[in-house]
Amino acid sequence: MIDEISKLARAAGQMMIDSHLKNNSVYTKEGKGNFTTDFDIKIQNFIKEELNKLIPDAAFIGEENGQDLNALKKLTFIVDPIDGTTNFIRNYRHSCVSICLMKDYMPYIGVVYNPYLDELFCAQINKGAYLNNKPIHVSENHLSDSVISFGASPYNTEKADQTFETAKILFNKAVDIRRCGSAALDICYVAAGRCDLYFEYILSPWDFAAASLILSQAGGIICTSGFNEIRYTEKCAVMAANRVILDEIKDLIIF
Ligand code: IPD
Ligand code: CA
Ligand code: CA
Repeated sequence: MIDEISKLARAAGQMMIDSHLKNNSVYTKEGKGNFTTDFDIKIQNFIKEELNKLIPDAAFIGEENGQDLNALKKLTFIVDPIDGTTNFIRNYRHSCVSICLMKDYMPYIGVVYNPYLDELFCAQINKGAYLNNKPIHVSENHLSDSVISFGASPYNTEKADQTFETAKILFNKAVDIRRCGSAALDICYVAAGRCDLYFEYILSPWDFAAASLILSQAGGIICTSGFNEIRYTEKCAVMAANRVILDEIKDLIIF
């Protein structure tokens, strides 16, 4: 199944690469700077149709289709057709396809594909995490040696003060900081040891479901506010980190 889903993610990623975006195919959604495009919709429809052929009785939750998070069934696909839509619109070339198969309400298979670098991150429960078929693992860096990434919760500006306060505290203790524009890739980068900690004060399950399994299978920890266990049925704060750094920052920031 993981191979089938990976193949599909690659095909969807190719659609992203082949797209020719026109100004009139970009639409605004609720909140500041929240966009969708004809390609977000087209790619999601393609993924939905193909996943339905793979497991016809699985439920489907996608960012672009009403998003009833309570529609979770025993088997459910949670999909973000383009994570990093603003990057996609601006041709920033840092976006991905994210597909998670949930089983018994927990991630079972996660696939995140960045077509611009041809990088496919994937994991299956209890089987480790991989980047282009090679095992990946989180770093063991301490905060003082870390590169931190974060998301700015752009559609929820009420989170801005807290976001930038936390970013400043961490920046002052770390080597440097990043804001790259795709939460799924940010979390996968922690899984691969490219960054050491990522946080964002509000995300939706399609942003983090697949990547959360890749991270935990790579030895990392994913948690929500209060450093509590993450939930997949509602929007929530997300932190992804190696264990060392997570212990070090608990008394430094409010999360
Ligand atoms: C967004 C990206 C961004 C994050 C936002 C997400 P989208 O997803 O992951 O990095 O900061 O919170 O909503 O809208 O591009 O799919
Ligand atoms: Ca997203
Ligand atoms: Ca999206």
